[in-house]
Amino acid sequence: MARIGNIDVGDFPLLLAPMEDVSDPPFRALCKEQGADVVYTEFISSEGLIRDAAKSTMKLDIYEKERPVGIQIFGAELDSMLKSIEIVEKSNPDIIDINFGCPVKKVVSKGAGAGILKDIDLMVSLTEAMVKHTNLPITVKTRLGWDNDSIRIVEVAERLQDVGCKAISIHGRTRVQMYKGEANWAPIAEVKNNPRMHIPVFGNGDVDTPEKAVEMRDDYGLDGAMIGRASIGYPWFFREVKHYFETGHHLAPPTMLERLDAARRHLQMAIDWKGEKLGVFETRRHYTNYFKGIPHFKEYRMKMVTSDDAADVFVAFDEVERDFSDFQFA
Ligand SMILES: Cc1cc2nc3c(=O)[nH]c(=O)nc-3n(C[C@H](O)[C@H](O)[C@H](O)COP(=O)(O)O)c2cc1C
Repeated sequence: MARIGNIDVGDFPLLLAPMEDVSDPPFRALCKEQGADVVYTEFISSEGLIRDAAKSTMKLDIYEKERPVGIQIFGAELDSMLKSIEIVEKSNPDIIDINFGCPVKKVVSKGAGAGILKDIDLMVSLTEAMVKHTNLPITVKTRLGWDNDSIRIVEVAERLQDVGCKAISIHGRTRVQMYKGEANWAPIAEVKNNPRMHIPVFGNGDVDTPEKAVEMRDDYGLDGAMIGRASIGYPWFFREVKHYFETGHHLAPPTMLERLDAARRHLQMAIDWKGEKLGVFETRRHYTNYFKGIPHFKEYRMKMVTSDDAADVFVAFDEVERDFSDFQFA
């Protein structure tokens, strides 16, 4: 049974990864319904929160139905990280996660995200200060190291644990790798096998089939799997993994009606939460996967992803229902 601080997150929990412009309240709600055990917000800038940038504060919105939920923040400045904790606490999350893994240049160049992997002492001291500044459990999400020659994740994870970090999620790539190549889970297993480690060690990177989740659990011995891209436009991935864990068999894919229901609710929740313009725009990236496998779908898809008008997108959903309601997904 994995625990993050006092929170029981079950046996081999599945965690929805923090993803910018993806892991928003509507999408988190859908993933939660389909079995995600812990969900995270996208990363939120500590500097942005302090400036009270509207876009940053909106990202703090969390809902009862999605608990346990972690709010992820990034930054490299002690002072702003501590101040941002106080702001984050007002949203009453269950967990505060620190992003020490984002590889994007604009983040890394400020020493934040994966940039901190060049200064492990700072990474540890920032984490320690944050742990001391809040009663909420602090978790860390990071990568294996800066580059292949500087992978010290076993030592790093132990030091983070020793200053009070309550769980660590490790993406099996270095910063230099960005998203290229295959994620390497072996160093994550080394972290887990360190006899001094007692906090949960969650694996991340390329879990896109139920079999891979089983591999992460049984062959690598990790405490849970954090799932990112495989869930985009496919929140059912969580229930499929769970079904496979329980039965050893693959669950039938969601029906057309389930997909349409999710797409409609997703778009409606997004509009309710962030307004029509952003709601329509930011839900687009999910449609390809929602409807993947339908032949000659391009015309319908184009309508969904080019119109700025929510009504047009809902009409496109209705047309899909009219024309493909009996379609069997493989
Ligand atoms: C669109 C997108 C946005 C992301 N945004 C974040 C983020 O805000 N914070 C973070 O820690 N990781 C972020 N990531 C990285 C993911 O959390 C995850 O580590 C990575 O995608 C590997 O897992 P996967 O193979 O299951 O997708 C993002 C990834 C994607 C694809």
